[in-house]
Amino acid sequence: MNVLFPIAEAYPFYKIGGLGDVGGSLPPALSKLSIDIRIALPKHPEVRLPKDAYQESSFEIIYNQEALSVNVYRAMLPESNVLTYLFEENKYLSKSTDASDNHADKFSVFSLAVATWVAEYSPYWQPQVIHCHDWHTSLIPVLLKHKHPHLDYKTIITIHNLAYQGITQTPVAKHLNLNPEECHILSWDQQDGEINIMLEGLLHASHITTVSPQYAKEILTQEYGEKIDAILQTKATTITGILNGIDTNFFNPDKDKLLFQNFSKSTWEKGKLNNRVELMKQHGINYDQHQILISFIGRVDPYQKGIGLIIQAIEDNVFPENIIFFFLGTGDPNLETELHSAAKNKPNIKIVTRFDEPLAHNLYAASHLSLIPSRFEPCGLVQMMAMRYGSLPIARKTGGLADTIIHNHDGFLFNEYNHKSMTEAIYQAIEVVKNQNKLYTTMVEKALDKDFSWKIPATEYKSLYENLILNQK
Ligand code: GLC
Repeated sequence: MNVLFPIAEAYPFYKIGGLGDVGGSLPPALSKLSIDIRIALPKHPEVRLPKDAYQESSFEIIYNQEALSVNVYRAMLPESNVLTYLFEENKYLSKSTDASDNHADKFSVFSLAVATWVAEYSPYWQPQVIHCHDWHTSLIPVLLKHKHPHLDYKTIITIHNLAYQGITQTPVAKHLNLNPEECHILSWDQQDGEINIMLEGLLHASHITTVSPQYAKEILTQEYGEKIDAILQTKATTITGILNGIDTNFFNPDKDKLLFQNFSKSTWEKGKLNNRVELMKQHGINYDQHQILISFIGRVDPYQKGIGLIIQAIEDNVFPENIIFFFLGTGDPNLETELHSAAKNKPNIKIVTRFDEPLAHNLYAASHLSLIPSRFEPCGLVQMMAMRYGSLPIARKTGGLADTIIHNHDGFLFNEYNHKSMTEAIYQAIEVVKNQNKLYTTMVEKALDKDFSWKIPATEYKSLYENLILNQK
């Protein structure tokens, strides 16, 4: 079975967030199930071509009435046998994808390049299924349907985050030479002078998936539907939730080279303590061994991750002096400043605002608890990584967090997105770690035992591909 996997990020080539983790770890798991899966990735300026890379093809596309030349390099995704096609183009794809800008042109060019390449310039390898991800690649099903109607690819769009739909005033349909007369959806979408790129894709794709079963239900509601719930309801029978996995070899406390000390289920108590003591030393935090370490690792995002709740908690001294709270994350500059000023003169609060993969691993390994107060969470990978390293999540019961954490069993869940609900959960968790050693130990061991590998989700994707090919979905 041949599957093309166009995506904006794939670790280690390129990663901004969870999308990059999935882009780098799901394809190798699918390839182990004998699927010939190949990634298509923009050659962002940050991407370094590996030594084995070579140029496979080169062709022109027309975008906004201008001829652009595209080079396609092939290279192996490092430490895997997954072939990756890196699309190089000098005007749009060579721009960095910083968080502030709308990159409608960049990803429209990428989508056009992939659709044109697969339909016209890849005679020796053809996919049966094209598995797209998020708004960045959502125009691929649209372009294929309208520009290459004779080709019968099955297309999937996986929604990693419905909050980002690629809504833009850039007239990308015009730039792509998609005629609104033929594409009736485009014409009504464009009446307000904007186009919703993800919506166009969702309406054209053969199937839609979300990154957790719970999120598949939530997006059909007004609370989580990001203004397109009513339209998604009409597609409900073609939406499936498949839980993400993580690369359990890379995230493995027993082998992880980034840790000060490795540990397993039989050595976690000592191991986590030693990692904690060392980490505190490295960061100049005065630490006595009875203090509980709570961490937060994630994007500094104004809507999703509950940063507002965290700032309020710091300001209201929810973390008493015998608790260390360690925050690691980067994103919105104003929120970063607010975090730093809330933590001022509080020696037990540490704020580090940068992207730092090794520090993240060390924090998972060192901390007792991981705070994840998301307003919404399509899947969330942090809770899985935390549990893998024996750090118990304190998380809002939403999306993938609700699917992966069992309250009082391997973590702590709270229902309401507010200060009170979160604070109660934090205090309950602290109480368990501090005074209920037997329960705490059992919970950590249950967390360490959990299987967050791609093994099961990958088989679910495989049967979805098979069903689509057999035309059953
Ligand atoms: C997005 C979502 C997150 C999910 C990740 C990978 O970053 O916000 O919940 O885990 O994509 O699918």
